[in-house]
Amino acid sequence: MEIVYTQTSLLEKITALRKKSLQIGFVPTMGALHKGHVQLLKSARSENDIVICSIFINPVQFNNTADLERYPRNPEEDIALANSYCDILFMPSVEEIYPNPPKEQYHFGLLESTMEGYYRQGHFNGVAIIVKRLFDIIQPDIAYFGKKDFQQLAIIKKLVQDYNLKITIQAIDTVREEDGLAMSSRNKLLSPHARSVAPFVWKTLLKAQILKKEKNPSQISEWIQEQFKNHQEFKLEYAQLVNAETLEEVTEYNQAESIVACIAVWLDNVRLIDNITIV
Ligand code: PAF
Repeated sequence: MEIVYTQTSLLEKITALRKKSLQIGFVPTMGALHKGHVQLLKSARSENDIVICSIFINPVQFNNTADLERYPRNPEEDIALANSYCDILFMPSVEEIYPNPPKEQYHFGLLESTMEGYYRQGHFNGVAIIVKRLFDIIQPDIAYFGKKDFQQLAIIKKLVQDYNLKITIQAIDTVREEDGLAMSSRNKLLSPHARSVAPFVWKTLLKAQILKKEKNPSQISEWIQEQFKNHQEFKLEYAQLVNAETLEEVTEYNQAESIVACIAVWLDNVRLIDNITIV
């Protein structure tokens, strides 16, 4: 694996690979790699000639400076892990990517204004800025994203569609700890006690899925809210059942072909998100 720090040298390597008509798989990350990332990398490895991974903690997608400062960083461990799956690891500095403050403004309508977008203003514009810039340099054939960030996935698909990019977006299932907690770099920030209660999020979503037999979507979302009111350690930000395509909130089953329950909660000053397909 080669580690590349500048856009110029990444572009040189990509140009050489393109001349050989090699298929490129790309996994963008913010580091603190875990088994969820490994799943993305393994999928990329099995479907492409070349695997490129980026590690860049993108400051412009953080709506909260404290969150940016405490975001877990362990470059040595990341390099060791990426080494087993990648051909090129791109690790640019902030100055390399943003010599000047970025000015791009993306518009994704409801996809960016609901749920995560409502509670993390500007977050998805920041995600779109970095992903579009990385796509422009790397021009991957396939790019890999996890389903845990369900709304981010919808935004990326829209970005690809709006700019007519020739990139296939591959959505990879959420990888979970044995007790059900969705893998996330932020899990490392949980205290041992918070970590022990965190699986409540996934367990609640699983029960919500079973409730589809007796409750409609609005009753299920009320039921989820009730569960968190009874568990004082968690502060629920939202629990919404949405159309899997448009992210519009649904109240009845006939309002969407597929419905996903999405949730964001605070636990021990750490923000956890998760989701489950209801139908
Ligand atoms: O999902 C993430 O880790 C980030 O949002 C991404 C896609 C790497 C952009 O910074």
